[in-house]
Amino acid sequence: MQEERLESLLQENRMFKPTSEFTAQANIRTPEIYEMGQEHLSFWEKQAERLDWFEPWKKTLEWSPPFAQWYLGGKLNASYNCLDRHLRDWHRNKAALIFEGENGDSRILTYQDLHREVSQLANVLKSLGVGKGDRVTIYLPMIPEAVISMLACARIGAPHSVVFGGFSSDALRDRINDAQAKVVITSDGSFRRGSIVPLKENADIALQDVTCVEHVIVVQRTAHQVNMQENRDIWYHEALKTASLDCPPVPMDAEDMLFILYTSGTTGKPKGVVHSTGGYMVGVSTTHDWVFDLKEEDVYWCTADVGWITGHSYIVYGPLANGATVVLYEGSPDYPNKDRYWEIIEKYQVSILYTAPTAIRSFMKWGPSYPQRRDLSSLRLLGTVGEPINPEAWMWYYKYIGGEHCPIVDTWWQTETGMIMMAPLPGITPLRPGSCTGPFPGVKIEVVDKTGKPVPKGGGGYLAIREPWPAMLRNIYGDPQRFEKTYFGEWPGIYFTGDGAKWDKDGNFWVLGRVDDVINVSGHRIGTMEVESALVDHPLVAEAAVIGKTHEIKGQALTAFITLKEGSEIYPTLIDELKKHVVRKIGALARPEDIFFTAELPKTRSGKIIRRLLRDIAEGRALGDIATLADTSAVNFLKAMYQD
Ligand code: WT7
Repeated sequence: MQEERLESLLQENRMFKPTSEFTAQANIRTPEIYEMGQEHLSFWEKQAERLDWFEPWKKTLEWSPPFAQWYLGGKLNASYNCLDRHLRDWHRNKAALIFEGENGDSRILTYQDLHREVSQLANVLKSLGVGKGDRVTIYLPMIPEAVISMLACARIGAPHSVVFGGFSSDALRDRINDAQAKVVITSDGSFRRGSIVPLKENADIALQDVTCVEHVIVVQRTAHQVNMQENRDIWYHEALKTASLDCPPVPMDAEDMLFILYTSGTTGKPKGVVHSTGGYMVGVSTTHDWVFDLKEEDVYWCTADVGWITGHSYIVYGPLANGATVVLYEGSPDYPNKDRYWEIIEKYQVSILYTAPTAIRSFMKWGPSYPQRRDLSSLRLLGTVGEPINPEAWMWYYKYIGGEHCPIVDTWWQTETGMIMMAPLPGITPLRPGSCTGPFPGVKIEVVDKTGKPVPKGGGGYLAIREPWPAMLRNIYGDPQRFEKTYFGEWPGIYFTGDGAKWDKDGNFWVLGRVDDVINVSGHRIGTMEVESALVDHPLVAEAAVIGKTHEIKGQALTAFITLKEGSEIYPTLIDELKKHVVRKIGALARPEDIFFTAELPKTRSGKIIRRLLRDIAEGRALGDIATLADTSAVNFLKAMYQD
């Protein structure tokens, strides 16, 4: 995939300069901001002033690689910054959340409404014995209660761990156990294309093997029958009825943990990425303001799920810290019709839309008639995130959604970076379709070679981050060794992103995708090892190798190669059974697109599966050097089978 992308990108020379109208009204209008960013400490010191601190910090940065501490000694509360400080003036009556349910039901919460419900839920959590430092797992659909739960945790200093509602009970159990959560907040169910996903039932199954959880708070969403376990389970709406509206925010140290968010890595075990309070909030609010050129009257919609970092940083903490009006949509882009997104934009007069390349490729496939039936004239800025965007998708987005007048900000970042690290500043940066342009001010990103040395302009290599940044992850929960090895093991003191990239002669960055065993399916990160472990957990499977095959809509799709145990027979429904097995172990997002059986897997002499070769086979490319192979007959066998 990397080679193909590189080839098409090398011919990409379209450029879109900011229009003078846009620049004239932009939050950031002059390139001097990049010079200010060079002085990276004073730059981030200045940006911290946008937050309300209970006590000022004494030192900006303490950097003893791989551990960074920002705004030392400062005290603040994330929920106070997202809510209370907006209540001082008319903003109290500004819409904070505009919720659109899958069924078309809607609910609008002002900042005051949100503050009230967050305070009440925070009091409920306290009454259940949750205090500062206790972890709470949140397993909810995209409903206001998801945002309320996150902010309620933040208010009392209890780090949250949001688990995406598409994860299975097994995946949920592992994440609850790893975080040793005291309380789980879930709902009876969630709506998905007209059917109900049984979240409470999943949580009940997960909790069978969990001892740390004392209580489960259940939001009523679908109102279907669920089991409520006595002395453990509590209805959200009942608990709130009697909860006090007054819950003072707990002053947190800048370095106190705000949340844990699990993400896939190169091993079978997901990593609990730990984010701080002060640095994280400074990073997400600054980037949200400048990259999206946020204005008071904007209606901002990020289509991600709150279960991912995009939702944490750019649905909840960044936008609400900035006092924005945020649209929250529960459902799918094609339910009940393929114009659902455009209907929502028309209905709420959305002015900023932030979505993923995989969604844009689906819209392209469905054709322009869907957006064309709706009035999209309220839009003034578009964004993308999650994976490299191919220039054709960029152009389609620009033309059919942006009406050729909205800048597109292609934002590169990661769960670990917490905040956008590369993106244009739309008032000053010329846009290049397919490139995220360059680093945000105050961020130092480089393309480096194997030894960690920067490559000259025009070269390609690994994407690395030279200096610490405020929203960087602080640790992997409970595993500092893994933290150091994963991100700083390659070159001491330099953060390795796991991505390959090219840096062109004008200094634009072209991200090519992961260079490790992580696959990006529809903008979601999936570790090959996780899927392989799920497959070998099936009683008939001996060995499994999973690769990402280029896919028109998803970017990459999971393809699995499998050897069965001695004496096992292949039967017609086995492929389907294996796919279901993976869904049960991880969730629908990890369902393999294709599964192939083979007598043997290609391995190096030292016994390592050669995934690259499998990718070549799956994508029908000529085979390269296979001299290191222990058994070339395995390859020939596989190749013959794949071509059938
Ligand atoms: C990986 C991080 C951060 C939000 C969503 C994904 C890829 C992300 C871009 C982009 C090219 C991108 C990278 C990165 N990625 N944004 N604009 N252009 N690639 O978060 O699950 O932590 O995945 O997504 O490969 O390493 P994540």
